[in-house]
Amino acid sequence: MEYYDLIAKGYDELHKEEQLNKLDIIKNHININKNTRILDVGCGTGVSSYFDCFVVGIDLSIGLLKQNRNSKKLLGAAETLPFKDDSFDCVVSVTSIHNFEDIQKSIKEMKRVGKNKFVFSVLKRADKFNFIEELITKNFKIGNVIEENKDAIFFCQKP
Ligand SMILES: C[S@@+](CC[C@H](N)C(=O)[O-])C[C@H]1O[C@@H](n2cnc3c(N)ncnc32)[C@H](O)[C@@H]1O
Repeated sequence: MEYYDLIAKGYDELHKEEQLNKLDIIKNHININKNTRILDVGCGTGVSSYFDCFVVGIDLSIGLLKQNRNSKKLLGAAETLPFKDDSFDCVVSVTSIHNFEDIQKSIKEMKRVGKNKFVFSVLKRADKFNFIEELITKNFKIGNVIEENKDAIFFCQKP
């Protein structure tokens, strides 16, 4: 996570606007209410955690987490999520999956801790895009895929 620690202070200036655009699309395509519990995996500074409900963020970069104003944030890895099965109504991961060291394991973990709604925003130009798409297809029922400027956003459920 050295790269993200290094750019942590400038992350929002560099990426906040484009990430908020993705978040707007996500918000318009999922139903949430005040009681919805969301887990944001690879939350970084918390831009992708701006939902009007209970949100927990988890990330491996201490530098980015220091910039994150969300009170519910954890230092941890997507590959070993410290939550019980079915703990969250919705699991989101925004432009993060291609960074995870063990993508297969992280997808299995997100599926385990989520109940039935999953949103994966995946960087289209990532080397591993096809591999990630394949894993999502194999593990979930995909309801909708929205292509924005840089990401393809997969809206999924458990099969
Ligand atoms: C491009 S940033 C996206 C951050 C945030 N979701 C956003 O939309 O601004 C990718 C994030 O993935 C995190 N990350 C990379 N590998 C991780 C892992 N194995 N577990 C958890 N987070 C990880 C990085 O620290 C970084 O915050």
